[in-house]
Amino acid sequence: MVRNVRAEWTGTLLVCGKCSKKLDGGFGPKGREPLGKALRRHLGLKKGRKAATGIVEVKCLGICPKGAVTVIDGADPHSWKLVAKGADLDEVVETLNLQPR
Ligand code: FES
Repeated sequence: MVRNVRAEWTGTLLVCGKCSKKLDGGFGPKGREPLGKALRRHLGLKKGRKAATGIVEVKCLGICPKGAVTVIDGADPHSWKLVAKGADLDEVVETLNLQPR
């Protein structure tokens, strides 16, 4: 039996947590924040199901780029993205078509 749990998400982003760990953060004002956390803060997202977009850290996705983080946009799963360390978050938001709140 499957039950539903309501969520406010309008999109889902899967971010490789291991890539972020290998970069020792790599994003945010001091370059010490993992990509997922930096994006959540940059977009002013609420937590969990109440957020407008779900940004979920996942295990290794098997790409393992050097100096970048693997990201999958749930709306475009045919084209995985590699976000370079220290990338401008405004550009990342625009490229991934995330809407700031
Ligand atoms: S470590 Fe991120 S894809 Fe493997």
